Amino acid sequence: MSIFLNNRKNNVDTNLNFDGEVDPTQRAWIEVSGKAIEANVRQLRSKLKNNCQFMAVVKADGYGHDAKVVSENAIKGGASQLGVATLKEGIKLRTYGINVPILVLGNLYTKKDLLLCFRNDLMPTVSTIRECLICNNIGKSNNLKFSLHLKVDTGMSRLGFECNQFVQQFNDINSLENISIKGIYSHLACADEKNALHPNSSVQLQREKFQKLLKLININKTQNIKIHLANSAGMMLGKDFHFDMVRIGLSMYGYGPLIRTNEKLFLKPALYLKSKVTFIRMIEKGVGVSYGNKFVSNRKTKLAVLSIGYADGIIRNLSGKISIIYNKKLYPQVGSITMDQMMVDITDSDDIKVGSTMILLGSDGGQSISPIDWADKCNNIPWEILCSFKNRLPRVQID
Ligand SMILES: Cc1ncc(COP(=O)(O)O)c(C=O)c1O
Repeated sequence: MSIFLNNRKNNVDTNLNFDGEVDPTQRAWIEVSGKAIEANVRQLRSKLKNNCQFMAVVKADGYGHDAKVVSENAIKGGASQLGVATLKEGIKLRTYGINVPILVLGNLYTKKDLLLCFRNDLMPTVSTIRECLICNNIGKSNNLKFSLHLKVDTGMSRLGFECNQFVQQFNDINSLENISIKGIYSHLACADEKNALHPNSSVQLQREKFQKLLKLININKTQNIKIHLANSAGMMLGKDFHFDMVRIGLSMYGYGPLIRTNEKLFLKPALYLKSKVTFIRMIEKGVGVSYGNKFVSNRKTKLAVLSIGYADGIIRNLSGKISIIYNKKLYPQVGSITMDQMMVDITDSDDIKVGSTMILLGSDGGQSISPIDWADKCNNIPWEILCSFKNRLPRVQID
């Protein structure tokens, strides 16, 4: 018995005087490169039409990267506005001292929410006359103008005024004294479709519809109303999609459009997903691994247990379909991904140890794995892969 409990023989450090915090890289974490965000924004801006502004879309905690890091670095790269989905996301950015214009892309329909929006110097997206009147009243009772963007629906059937009623409505809204229309915008439904560059594709027809509508409304140039339509994919379709501003998410985070366009871009993914090996075991040939024993070893196999699972936001449907990078080599993940852990076949490695860090998303040497690769493997989209990561994964800024 004493042989097994002898700390020295088992190479156990007997000094247990440690009262520090848990290291964020103790099990699994996300590394975020602010410099990559900054460089991506700079590069994307260089492709824009003259005087076209860049709105960095930082909703959903900056697509899971950390909205503060993303916003600050996007602004360094030249983003002049930010887009969030919710009131709370906008208010949080204000508490960090970020002072560029922020547009709330989601709909705020209660007086209380619109008042909070006004008090925090956020611009709401407005899709009805009723909301315009509430904003006007809020502006009036504060002796100020309430800045907002109007949205028109040109084919997404989500938020926005009906196109065919907007011309008259715009004149009425524009005559309200206590609002300031800072933007008119719409959102593309099919910018990622394979035929997007074809003149009769639905995205091209949507742009034409938006353009026709803008010609019909009487915009006074001195009002400096920003017109905007394009997301990442829309921006790549050409300068006639740029108008006065683009709203960019996915490509700012380093992932190119899902379709082929004429633009040559060298975007740098800003996110690395990493996890530590917490255990290594050998199994014989013919042994089942993880829930359901869906993977059975066909040779004597060395398994690494990674401390990351679906409770961290890894989609379970990726079980057995992904590889993990270590020291420029790929290793297959095997068996069902469990809530907090997953197994990797490292039979062919002699350098992976307990405590080694493996890369789930990111690159090392010639190996690179992106959320687009994961999305392809589980019939998903890269946006959802990125937004699925839970708060249990610490975000660590690396530069
Ligand atoms: C209204 C709006 N504009 C812009 C974007 C940015 O889109 P992308 O990430 O494709 O650039 C989004 C994202 O969903 C959005 O909802």
